[in-house]
Amino acid sequence: MTDKPKFYITTAISYVNGAPHLGHAYEAISTDVIARYKRLDGYDVFFLTGTDEHGQKVESSARAQGMEPKAFCDMIAAQFEEMTRTLNISNDGFIRTTEPRHYASTRAIWQKLVDAGDIYLGSYAGWYSVRDEAYFSEDELVRDGDRWLTPGGAEVEWIEEPSYFFRLSAYTDRLIAHYEANPDFAAPPHRRNELMNFLRQGLKDLSVSRTSFRWGVPVPGDDEHIVYVWLDALTNYITAAGYPDEESEFYRRYWPADIHIVGKDIMRFHAIYWPAFLMSAGAPLPGQVFGHGFLTIEGQKMSKSLGNVVTPDAMRETYGLDQMRYFLMREVPYGNDGSVTPEAIVQRINSDLANDLGNLGQRVLTMIARNCGGRVPEPGGFTAEDEALFAAAEALPGETRRAMEDLAIHRMLEAIWRVVGDANRYVDAQAPWALRKTDPARMNTVLYVLADVIRQLAIFVQPVVPDAAGALLEQLAVPDEEGGGEGARDFAALPARLTPGTVLPAPWPVFPRFVAEDAA
Ligand code: MSP
Repeated sequence: MTDKPKFYITTAISYVNGAPHLGHAYEAISTDVIARYKRLDGYDVFFLTGTDEHGQKVESSARAQGMEPKAFCDMIAAQFEEMTRTLNISNDGFIRTTEPRHYASTRAIWQKLVDAGDIYLGSYAGWYSVRDEAYFSEDELVRDGDRWLTPGGAEVEWIEEPSYFFRLSAYTDRLIAHYEANPDFAAPPHRRNELMNFLRQGLKDLSVSRTSFRWGVPVPGDDEHIVYVWLDALTNYITAAGYPDEESEFYRRYWPADIHIVGKDIMRFHAIYWPAFLMSAGAPLPGQVFGHGFLTIEGQKMSKSLGNVVTPDAMRETYGLDQMRYFLMREVPYGNDGSVTPEAIVQRINSDLANDLGNLGQRVLTMIARNCGGRVPEPGGFTAEDEALFAAAEALPGETRRAMEDLAIHRMLEAIWRVVGDANRYVDAQAPWALRKTDPARMNTVLYVLADVIRQLAIFVQPVVPDAAGALLEQLAVPDEEGGGEGARDFAALPARLTPGTVLPAPWPVFPRFVAEDAA
């Protein structure tokens, strides 16, 4: 067993009522960047994603297609699993709530809540949104002509049925105390404040079973009821850690999760209901729930009726995978909402990737290939300018770590691109092409400094653009265990500098410019 600290991170599990869209891709990519960064920083990461397959919404989507729910789920879940591959997501596990292990875990959690005296039989009469799979009280709804909608614009239906309830009201004070003792439990801070306000109003008991349809996990001891889809879905995180086998090595190592990454729309479920369920079950709570923002398409909500739904495949095929990953991570401060426009994507590709980083690599590696016999050049003494550029690069472990402690992925990228800018200014100022005739020894030193700084930059951009970074490292002949490829990549274990004389492959460009006709 490794002596590295563990880090268990999850995405939300996606409903399989339809194919993956850009919002799902955004969550998968951003969580992947965090997971990859943590691996680079020496953690033993367990990264989980998966699909949420029960409930009324999925059942009715299946029926609308004339399919049995399970066959329908198999079909759509396969698309989500495929998305993790096409987007180069480095998840270690993929969970489906229709798996037997998850039924066992959900039923075990239910039994714990019963044993704690937190479940009682009653009946629910009220509004339900199938889209959100959530109950709404009248005062939460908004009027739209002659009908009522949720604040998020979803339709509601009136339901009346026998239901088991969870004594959520009994957890208000414990949750407030937990928030106060753990100020980062729910993040970013403005989301935490919203949740705190909600908690301070006092919680009502929660309906946790349904009887009017069948697609779900049967309630232990009362088959008429199926477990409310959110109680079922949230349990996925602990199922994947091996629950209910609390003695297993895996569970003891990985539970509780360190971070749940979810969209802002489902913070309440994760940062209020989930910790309350876990408190009742006597299981440790996750370290943090982070709510990221929503992506819009040119400022508009993505929706089937507007016909503006962007699929991850379409974006990847048009712009390239690393380009897409970079754009989504750089353009939108993580935690905020953000608008996706073709102009902004092209601008980021051509300026940050092609001009700034791509060109830096291409210029330097081509000069080395032509003027240094295709080997890492032998440096002479370093000048103040050389040392300043090294110092900027060598500050990256600290700077990126500070940004990532706040999950500020965009700030990590800003820090890296400041060094890209420094390196480009250094090339221009040192003009190695002019040194070729006048001072070849100095040219060697300058190209050595640049090659090594490119190596360091490539190591730090790996979490966001793994393919391109791997190509840069390959061109610098950096072996896997020193930061290239998929090998061990602990910052602390990185060798200080490139070895002069190392033979390099012929260089190739990693970030081509995006030319508009390409889109056609
Ligand atoms: N099944 C629930 C989550 C259960 S977790 C125990 C669910 N599924 S979902 O398919 O609707 O959404 C999956 C994730 O994608 C959620 O975190 C959601 O916030 C996120 N997004 C959905 N649309 C999005 C955007 N337009 N932009 C960014 N993220 C979005 O909720």
